[in-house]
Amino acid sequence: MEKTYFIITFGCQANEHDSEILAGLLVKKGYQAATSIDKADLILFNTCCVRKKAENKALSQIGELKKLKKQKPDLMIGVCGCMVQQKNMPQKIRQRAPHVDLIFGTHNLEQIITLIDQVLKTKEPQVQILPDRKIIVENLPKIREKPFKALVNITYGCDNFCTYCIVPYVRGREKSRQPENILKEISQLVDDGVKEVLLLGQNVNSYGRTLIPPFSFGELLKKVNEIQGLKRIRYLTSHPRDFKPELIQIISQLDKVCKHFHLPLQSGSNRILRKMGRGYTGEDYQKLVQEIRRLMPQASITTDLIVGFPGESDEDFKDTLELVEKLRFDSAFTFIYSTRSGTPAAKLPDQIPLNIKKARLQELMLIQNKISKEINESLKGHIIEILVEGISKKETSVLEGKSETNKTVLFIGKKNLIGKFVQVEITEPQTWILKGKVVTGGGKEEYVGTNPNDATISRN
Ligand code: SAH
Ligand code: SF4
Ligand code: F3S
Repeated sequence: MEKTYFIITFGCQANEHDSEILAGLLVKKGYQAATSIDKADLILFNTCCVRKKAENKALSQIGELKKLKKQKPDLMIGVCGCMVQQKNMPQKIRQRAPHVDLIFGTHNLEQIITLIDQVLKTKEPQVQILPDRKIIVENLPKIREKPFKALVNITYGCDNFCTYCIVPYVRGREKSRQPENILKEISQLVDDGVKEVLLLGQNVNSYGRTLIPPFSFGELLKKVNEIQGLKRIRYLTSHPRDFKPELIQIISQLDKVCKHFHLPLQSGSNRILRKMGRGYTGEDYQKLVQEIRRLMPQASITTDLIVGFPGESDEDFKDTLELVEKLRFDSAFTFIYSTRSGTPAAKLPDQIPLNIKKARLQELMLIQNKISKEINESLKGHIIEILVEGISKKETSVLEGKSETNKTVLFIGKKNLIGKFVQVEITEPQTWILKGKVVTGGGKEEYVGTNPNDATISRN
């Protein structure tokens, strides 16, 4: 019988995509996806360490598998991803969870198969971490979650070293893929039915800097936009410092590039931004937003914000609130600053007590939620094009899709609409989602069904 695997992924899309590659490698080796964790022969944790919380969650879930391993001694347990790349972490995992058989990092995914073979052969745990790597391995197999939407790496690693952030230490130096490799991959994906691509990099705006000859992100977008049959292009993440007016101009003219700008602001205080090493001021950021809105008034703008960076005073925090009120983001991911050992900010004096950080987060979220709700309410009655992505987590008769502006839209419909574009009229906007009804697309008989049984597919 074929062996089965189950991968648990933490963290960002970079990790999600790595998990797709790990799945691809395992399937090539003859493994099959397990239907549940306790049925799997191999359980793999692809971890994140951007905040302490993500790390603790992974460590506790890994710890919990001790019982299962006792019941099933042949079960193989692996831990990989960003958390593992931290100093002394493999030893820490080995100590805390001796039932782990396999540990490898972010720079040697493709070694998973050899490592599995070594565990089987030697009956000993295997640990294999590379500090970084210069080359990019192309053409690894991938099992993609959705047939119509694909993650595509354009850069690996990060050279920005924002003072709070661990990513540059666990993902290595920035490397760009050759444009022809990216374009070839996307063309192939489109031939296979993909309609939307999400171009991935920790700072997509610096794509191509180190290529010989250099190639800019704007040029890449123009080339991707030319691919016949592709409908939507997204990219993540942009660094406000590197988002130049020329790029805004280019994006405004490319029909397939979604008019959604995720621009992590992090803080509204210039003093804190300087201490974070972000390389822009609140005023620079505001100019960027104004320019985007001038050329694309319908664009959505979202952000990431951190509260409680070391030394953040009430005054600094007030600057963040004021800028958030002024800029009116469609939505924001808000985080409590988490001390990451090895980063410069971890050594700064004046770490903020947790109760203050929590109170600031609450206050910030309240303001942002109000703004998100107001913006969404202004969309009532609008007809918006949606790519239908799947069935809503809560109700099986409800479908879920994304607008060009990356808003989640829920509506009643049959599952054969999944992967298609439909026009939806927004009837009930809320803070986080928009509810609506299909007006065109897919044919009438395809969206009148409201029977929950019509729309049940299995979700992993
Ligand atoms: N490269 C991307 C993503 C980085 S991680 C970028 O630059 O935007 C995603 C978000 O996590 C960051 O934008 C930041 O808001 C948050 N983050 C990173 N390190 C953090 C830390 N130590 N504590 C709290 N939030 C953090
Ligand atoms: Fe971290 Fe800054 Fe790099 Fe983003 S740009 S991954 S926040 S160091
Ligand atoms: Fe986490 Fe690594 Fe992404 S630390 S946020 S999974 S790059």
